[in-house]
Amino acid sequence: MCGAKLTALIFNMLKLGVNIDHVATVREIRHGIEPEPVNAALLAESSGADSIVVHLREDRRHIKEKDLFVLRKTIKTKMNLEMSIAPEIVKIACRLKPDQATLVPEKRQELTTEGGLDVISNLKKIAQVKNTLGEQGIGVSLFIDPEKKQIDAALKVGIKMIELHTGRFAEAKNKQQVQRYLKELKIAAKYAKAKGLRVFAGHGLDYYNVCLVADIKEIEELNIGYSIVCRAVLMGFEEAVREMKALIKR
Ligand code: PXP
Repeated sequence: MCGAKLTALIFNMLKLGVNIDHVATVREIRHGIEPEPVNAALLAESSGADSIVVHLREDRRHIKEKDLFVLRKTIKTKMNLEMSIAPEIVKIACRLKPDQATLVPEKRQELTTEGGLDVISNLKKIAQVKNTLGEQGIGVSLFIDPEKKQIDAALKVGIKMIELHTGRFAEAKNKQQVQRYLKELKIAAKYAKAKGLRVFAGHGLDYYNVCLVADIKEIEELNIGYSIVCRAVLMGFEEAVREMKALIKR
């Protein structure tokens, strides 16, 4: 047995991608320079993050183009760019050359990415974008709902990686729903993996629900943002107040 396989058996090799969009959201509340998302990315990496995830939205509500290019030069782990298939965004991705692009649906009014990409209805467009990004050496993943028909469509496009949208599971209102949507994720992950896809998952995962998804052995990586930023704000609050108090006392 090779070393890597043995290590994978001994340790849980599930990877964590940290989405830092909402660090930029806080910065944009005042259109200021703080908090700097690049600093958050470096702290995430030094704390064990396996990749840094950013979404350049068409309306630029949080992450800006400038952030992307600074991050590209700074971070040492995988850069995963979430992006729509809009031509303007595709052009930027081709210049940026992230390690991975995750194609997501995007609606202007939504607070966050509400559902997975409809690969079935956008087969041609997605295939074109996948090829354009592929020519630049960018690996392409599709953010889809945990449904067999979407996985089959992803396979038709020639995709090698998918990210399952965990939103339905994360928003479950009771135990029955939790079990129902967890089962849906398990079935989708198993099916996709059996078809040779690399399987990632994310959206709405937090400190209370993550373990159930982390137990799905076919899933290789979880991408988590909002709950980590929320936790970071509270974890750092005491220290921030203490520092300010010390300064004004002086
Ligand atoms: N994965 C994808 C493709 C996403 O669009 C998002 C939200 O930006 C996430 C993961 C992270 O979701 P959350 O911020 O709810 O953890």
